[in-house]
Amino acid sequence: MRGRAASECELIIVRYDTPSLMTWNARTYDGGFGYVSAHGAPLVDLLDPRPGERIVDLGCGTGVLTAEIASRGAHVLGIDGSPAMIEKALAQYPGLDFIVGDGRDFVVAQPYDAVFSNAALHWMGSEPDAVISSVREALAPGGRFVAEMGGAGNCAALTAAVSTAWREHGLPDPDLPWYFPTPAEYAGRLEKGGFVVRILEYFDRPTPLDECPNGAADWVRMFAGSLLHQLPAELIESLLRRVNELAAPALRRETGWMADYVRLRFAAVRR
Ligand code: BEZ
Repeated sequence: MRGRAASECELIIVRYDTPSLMTWNARTYDGGFGYVSAHGAPLVDLLDPRPGERIVDLGCGTGVLTAEIASRGAHVLGIDGSPAMIEKALAQYPGLDFIVGDGRDFVVAQPYDAVFSNAALHWMGSEPDAVISSVREALAPGGRFVAEMGGAGNCAALTAAVSTAWREHGLPDPDLPWYFPTPAEYAGRLEKGGFVVRILEYFDRPTPLDECPNGAADWVRMFAGSLLHQLPAELIESLLRRVNELAAPALRRETGWMADYVRLRFAAVRR
């Protein structure tokens, strides 16, 4: 984005196949689900943090990518809605700044050069325009918003298995807590919200669930734990067994389970 004319809208939508706020358990997230951060490396490259820049990492989790951005010389503020995540981030990276905050209404004292967000915006879907507005307010004019989130069709096989298992067990359709917009929808929101969209990619990223010996069931426990609250243990076991049966034909390979992730990755500039 550096060195490009800020006035012209250059929108690139690519779809290609690659091989390849909740109560969070921060320890499990870093251990079994470390791939969330591992897959963020190309996004940090797209952000291209420069020494001395001021950058917000929105939905920073336990701070792994915050630290990566800081290692390139930027001053980074990590923000996350989960106190458990922030507690762990502070313990792991005592020299860095982290605060608990909500993407829909966080406020910063001084403008930032960039807001970065990996695998977090889909958790803030109840009010996507409020998130975009908060990000805009946090940026200086010309500041970058660089992010990756789940796009339309993300986890389709996983969520279909969940819905079917719930229905078969006589439960109401589960209220899934995520927002997976189409590229056109999110680009429209960004433009309406005061951004020029420079890059927008939409692609499949099949993701090995290396640390999920119990496949889709483990994934549901980690990421959709709120659906299981207040259900009796025997029902949970039966539901998750059925989720695995239903998801296996699409997602289970000889080498292990593969989640059907679809990514929306973008770089936009504040007008
Ligand atoms: C994702 O990164 O796409 C994702 C993770 C957990 C739940 C839903 C989506």
